[in-house]
Amino acid sequence: MRCELNDYESRGEHQSQIINHKSSTTNHQSQITNRKSQIANHQSQIINGRALMKNLGILLSGRGSNFEAIARNVQAGKIPAKIAVVISNKEDAAGLATAKTLGLETRFIPSQGKQREAFDREVVSVLKDFQVDVVCLAGFMRILSPYFVRAFPGRILNIHPALLPAFPGTYAQKQALDYGVKFAGCTVHIVDEGVDSGPIVCQAVVPVLDEDTPESLSARILKEEHRIYSEAVCLLIDDKVRLQGRRLVSNDTAP
Ligand code: GRF
Repeated sequence: MRCELNDYESRGEHQSQIINHKSSTTNHQSQITNRKSQIANHQSQIINGRALMKNLGILLSGRGSNFEAIARNVQAGKIPAKIAVVISNKEDAAGLATAKTLGLETRFIPSQGKQREAFDREVVSVLKDFQVDVVCLAGFMRILSPYFVRAFPGRILNIHPALLPAFPGTYAQKQALDYGVKFAGCTVHIVDEGVDSGPIVCQAVVPVLDEDTPESLSARILKEEHRIYSEAVCLLIDDKVRLQGRRLVSNDTAP
């Protein structure tokens, strides 16, 4: 299965091509054989696609609206992946409750009072138990230790409500408003050992209006966050991109 967020190829069209082709079998026997092998190929791709299905691990601490947007796209078959586990360091995180409602595996791993790496080792161990390929930080209010980042090299995504490298850290939307920028936005990036500093996967831009408050600007940005996080997940799990220095470039343009 391929990522279908931007996939305009219609399955219905594909199926009707098969049916049309089947009806043409009366015309030409050798075409039947060709087409049958094409269908067989198609089916084996589906099987291969399933075998290649990636496991996502979601980490959150609060509301979980970005997680929910990803979960809906997974459910709708638009992201060829499975959410293997949702982990929160906050027991009362709304996102954890949503994950339970959606029937997903959830884990509460308290972080309070623990050394950063000790907590991270617990989380990494659970992620490994669930054979997670890609980790999505979705409002996870903790900085990862080098131990965690090295456990999933290039395979941890984070969403930040600003156009990085501008306004890293907390209260990014307020920082943007206070600075007086005319455009704000959001960034999905690969997590490295710094804070909001890893290679950029996707960005989206929104206008800043004169009457904006941090709340109204946050809401405008959040809408875009929900869209681009799934896009970024697709890019990473489909192996459609590679790193060229800090730049994430499309594999389609590879020489
Ligand atoms: C989002 O604004 C995200 O950019 C930031 O934390 C917020 C999480 O919101 N990292 P939600 O929990 O996904 O609703």
